[in-house]
Amino acid sequence: MHRRDFLKYSAALGALSAFPLINRAAFAAARPVLPIPTLIEPDAEGRIRLAAQAGKTAFAGKPVTTWGYNGALLGPALRLQQGKNVTVDIHNALPEATTVHWHGLEIPGEVDGGPHGVIAPGAKRRVSFTPQQRAATCWFHPHEHGKTGAQVAKGLAGLLMIEDNELRALMLPQKWGVDDVPLIIQDKRFGADGEIDYRLDVMSAAVGWFGDTLLCNGARYPQHTAPRGWLRLRLLNGCNARSLTLAASDNRPLYVIGSDGGLLGEPVKLTELPMLMGERFEVLVQISDNKPFDIIALPVTQIGMNVAPFDKPQPVVRIQPVNVFSTGTLPDALAAMPVVPATDGVFERRLELTMDPMLDMLGMQALEKKYGKQATAGMDHGAMGHGQRPMPAMDHSQMHHGAQGASGMHHGAMGHGSLAAGDGKTAFDIMNANKINGKAFDMNTPAFNVARGRYERWVISGEGDMMLHPFHIHGTQFRILSENGKPPAPHRSGWKDTVSVDGARSEVLVRFDHTASPQQAYMAHCHLLEHEDTGMMLGFTVS
Ligand code: C2O
Ligand code: CU
Repeated sequence: MHRRDFLKYSAALGALSAFPLINRAAFAAARPVLPIPTLIEPDAEGRIRLAAQAGKTAFAGKPVTTWGYNGALLGPALRLQQGKNVTVDIHNALPEATTVHWHGLEIPGEVDGGPHGVIAPGAKRRVSFTPQQRAATCWFHPHEHGKTGAQVAKGLAGLLMIEDNELRALMLPQKWGVDDVPLIIQDKRFGADGEIDYRLDVMSAAVGWFGDTLLCNGARYPQHTAPRGWLRLRLLNGCNARSLTLAASDNRPLYVIGSDGGLLGEPVKLTELPMLMGERFEVLVQISDNKPFDIIALPVTQIGMNVAPFDKPQPVVRIQPVNVFSTGTLPDALAAMPVVPATDGVFERRLELTMDPMLDMLGMQALEKKYGKQATAGMDHGAMGHGQRPMPAMDHSQMHHGAQGASGMHHGAMGHGSLAAGDGKTAFDIMNANKINGKAFDMNTPAFNVARGRYERWVISGEGDMMLHPFHIHGTQFRILSENGKPPAPHRSGWKDTVSVDGARSEVLVRFDHTASPQQAYMAHCHLLEHEDTGMMLGFTVS
């Protein structure tokens, strides 16, 4: 299959030919058109067909092997209706086993597509479910244990949207690919041969696999022509390991209307929107001033992610308003947002995220060796290898936009060991080096059982290291009670399936309305995919 079979450029091109007033010359400039994933809905029988397959995608003019659903890269956007059953026929046309996980969906473990939902190469799997949850923008991606990072890096990811009556009653922009625009943002690295250069080694197991090229819907710095008025962006941080802070290049406000699991109570106006890996936010941007601008990714403080070119803002997509008017509006009130129930007496469960100190040390050494000391700026390595470390004496607010100097960092225990990474002599099991409650992921042993329909307070701690762990839980949309010791920001106070655990402790209030058996357990894990693949995941059951 070819790229054109699933990426539809017609919406943008249609707007162009219908309104010849705009400057075609400007449009024809080098910038690629933003690819829009094909919108697909269940057919009359409620069926959707998905094929995971290999193909070729052109990057920098060279054909590169990529993987996608129903095409060569990424996948279609599936639109489902609340309360309506869907049956998805999945065909694995890849040369290796995969699974299809529905990230953010509250559906039973048997159809959740976690690591137990394996589809052998050439095999098919049929899953059927009825989304009962509220309208939301979710996504689907592989979850083959130990291979998730590699398979996502190759291109497997697609959007899944649920609609309900509450959403339909709002007059939000809703012309797919015109004023309702998905932006799947991912970084990639290409090797000397031009192919995607994915590696799971000590460095990526410690800090994650990151690239030097930012892509939006699979294209580098594309352009989207949009009608004047309100533009709705459905943002997905689809990176393996990179957190993103998004902004408009001219600092115009982003009005956040929805988070992972649905609409917020009311819009939240921001000029910078941090997004963790796996998170979605929907924002509205006012573009009636007819001025082009970019959505950009600002530098972040996450370890390794300030390596060039990400030490400077990177363009994601150019937004080019055209002389057509969109009719969507930004309502003052969005959705009914229930108050968080009182948590006294609620069962508390503790999850402690840890990295093997050896991996931490080898990973940092490898990172510094490859990219210089600058790459580990922000880390305090003084107490390395001894588990609990103090917070670095550094004010994060001062680090926000600027490049960070390595001054004041303590690298005392580093770079002098005999276990230099990459010497090939270190026998170290990276596949089990990341842990939750002292254990690396065990496919055969669920860590605990949760009573269905009962609230639990999960206290997730990452106090043992200075890494960012975006923690994701299957089978639920939860509410954040506290995030890294602070009350959640307003736009993170609605329905979420991922919470930041960043050298501190975060608390979420979860409830599971469906069951999950030991054979098809739900997962809870770090969504830095290399941490997940190397053990920072657990399975649990709901009954
Ligand atoms: Cu987005 Cu368990 O995954
Ligand atoms: Cu992690």
